[in-house]
Amino acid sequence: MDKTAIYTDDLLEFLNRSVVNFFAVDTVRRRLEQEGFRRLEARDHWDLQPGGRYYLTQNDTALFAFIVGESDPARGFRIISAHTDSPGFRVKPSAEMLCPGNVVKLNTEVYGGPILYTWFNRPLSLAGRVLLRSCDPFRPVTRLVKFDRPLLTIPHLAIHFNRSVNEGNPLSKQKDMLPVLGIVDDGGKADGMLCRMVAQQLGVDPDDILDFDLSLFDTTPATLEGVDREFISSGRLDDLGMVHAAMTALIESENTEVTRIIALFDNEETGSGTKQGAASPILADAMRRIVYSLGGDEETYLRAVADSFMVSADNAHATHPNYVEKQDPTNHPVLGGGPVIKINANCKYMTDADSAAVFRSICERAEVPYQYFVNHSDVAGGSTLGNILTSQIPLRGVDMGAGIWSMHSVRETASVDDHTFIIRAFIEFFSC
Ligand code: CO
Repeated sequence: MDKTAIYTDDLLEFLNRSVVNFFAVDTVRRRLEQEGFRRLEARDHWDLQPGGRYYLTQNDTALFAFIVGESDPARGFRIISAHTDSPGFRVKPSAEMLCPGNVVKLNTEVYGGPILYTWFNRPLSLAGRVLLRSCDPFRPVTRLVKFDRPLLTIPHLAIHFNRSVNEGNPLSKQKDMLPVLGIVDDGGKADGMLCRMVAQQLGVDPDDILDFDLSLFDTTPATLEGVDREFISSGRLDDLGMVHAAMTALIESENTEVTRIIALFDNEETGSGTKQGAASPILADAMRRIVYSLGGDEETYLRAVADSFMVSADNAHATHPNYVEKQDPTNHPVLGGGPVIKINANCKYMTDADSAAVFRSICERAEVPYQYFVNHSDVAGGSTLGNILTSQIPLRGVDMGAGIWSMHSVRETASVDDHTFIIRAFIEFFSC
């Protein structure tokens, strides 16, 4: 098999396993352990060795993995960042709602900015983490839970009740978007139903469940589409495509000199303002501890930061065939055209001409095409990790990503070729 086929198969499997942020981190963690990475705990003393492979998690939803360089600790870091979360729906506490016909639906809250109507009529399920009672109230036991079959659906209203539905249909997050879980027997209890299901799934006593974080996911697997299978269709490509590319490059690159880091943050979709998000000092703290553990001091750390470079990897908008006018008039990133360098005059992206020049050189060395994204000047764009991180650490760096269609839909579309191009560029970034 050629590399593209290997990377593509691996990506599809990765996406299918990584149904919510907790499982994205778990999938990366398992893979890293197979590759000899050792787990670190933030509260322990770190005794790191040059050439050592380590990883650290935060909240089970962010993960930082690194291979320690063997040169002077003042030598800069090479960092690729991405995010583990995707827009969707979180289950609220006391979620069960009993409706006529003994139908039970779940009360949910929207997470981030999903395109709501793409979630209707899908075979949905639930996954997340459960906190179980232990003898130490400060350390409940964490278990991940995933229901591996379609369990819920958000049924759309029939067109006969709203004849103008195709002319635009405003949606209420509280009324229109609640998923149906099932029908209980006459006299059956809806209250606590979810907790009992989770307990049964985990084989624990419902009374031992203290709390849980559960999110909806679409059970439809990732697939290839297009006449030559050139498109990847999947949920969560933003940003798990880049998480997968970063992880693959860290494993496949060979460089004994510099310290290579992948920084996978949570909560990008809600502004990064959590302890596991990019606005926290967690990456800076980890970098500092790496330098200190190698015998450096604060000045060594600051010298290393000044010599570092970061690739902030988050997806971009490829030109949509039905909406070409939405793109900038002179920059048209396309699916299959290679990594997209993202630029914004108002600094929503960290890219500047200096860092774009660096990334372009890396793409050229990797023999990978590259392209540029800027917003059409009448369209406000999004933001991402890069400029948030630079408020914590004054890093040189570039914002880039794979071009995709339908960003924040329950399924998005990316390009098979772009994924390989990006992995090759990342391997070159880590290697050169
Ligand atoms: Co994103």
